[in-house]
Amino acid sequence: MISVVVLGAGHVGTHLCKAISTSEQLKLVQWYNRSIIDHSLSIQDVNQVHNLNDLVDADVYIIAVSDGHVEKLSNQLPFKNRLVVHTSGSVPMRHLNNKNRRGVFYPLQTFSKTATLDFKDVPICVESTNKDDRYLLKTLAEHLGSPVYAINSEQRQALHLSAVFVNNFTNQLYRIAHELSDEKNLDFEILKPLISETAKKINHISPYMAQTGPAKRRDQKTIRTHLKLLENHPNYKKLYEQITTLIQKTHG
Ligand SMILES: NC(=O)c1ccc[n+]([C@@H]2O[C@H](COP(=O)([O-])OP(=O)(O)OC[C@H]3O[C@@H](n4cnc5c(N)ncnc54)[C@H](OP(=O)(O)O)[C@@H]3O)[C@@H](O)[C@H]2O)c1
Repeated sequence: MISVVVLGAGHVGTHLCKAISTSEQLKLVQWYNRSIIDHSLSIQDVNQVHNLNDLVDADVYIIAVSDGHVEKLSNQLPFKNRLVVHTSGSVPMRHLNNKNRRGVFYPLQTFSKTATLDFKDVPICVESTNKDDRYLLKTLAEHLGSPVYAINSEQRQALHLSAVFVNNFTNQLYRIAHELSDEKNLDFEILKPLISETAKKINHISPYMAQTGPAKRRDQKTIRTHLKLLENHPNYKKLYEQITTLIQKTHG
């Protein structure tokens, strides 16, 4: 059984604690947060602590606090030679204090405290300074039911950047579509099957092969019509032109 201490009670910390506490092969020995943990999120029988000096022995300590505080918290840990990992996509592993064995346990998914999430849909990217620790982190991820990948800090940064494109930027495009359809009293529901199909399609073919639409077809007439419709939205018009040009270059 792998014993785990989670530090942080935000989106990631809360989901990790829930998943660890329900696994038969893992033991959540403590849940640390600097402030009181929201009772509605609390997990039965977990030992909550608010003072780093109260932390007990465990196989691994997972720091799941905001990126800007990971390094500071690792400096404040009152022990050494234990395995301490963080969950960030962008913080290099070397930012963890080297008084402990360092590692990364980065869950590549979008987390919200209140949304339900199955860890089989959460790929975990692990990194560590030694082989045994990497094995332990892989086993921990497998016990959560997650797909697991050994990925170094440089690769993780590229992955985090890619995640911004596929998640945050795509979502902003949904938001623009929502606004444009609202303006004409259209229900955003109509677009949802297209959103799902677009996402599903790349399970079978590459994003390059999956591209369709007026930009790829070089359908200038339709493109001009769309740009005219965007006259009142100069920022969206600029975005439309830039993405259209990019698609045409890609499929040149
Ligand atoms: N959210 C995601 O979708 C996602 C996905 C993958 C990876 N991550 C990574 O996971 C980590 C946690 O992200 P999150 O979204 O869970 O963050 P979050 O919801 O913003 O939670 C922040 C946590 O950090 C603690 N904290 C903030 N400042 C602190 C300080 N000075 N000292 C000690 N604790 C402090 C907060 O404590 P209080 O409750 O006391 O304020 C809280 O427990 C980050 O490294 C993030 O990059 C996030």
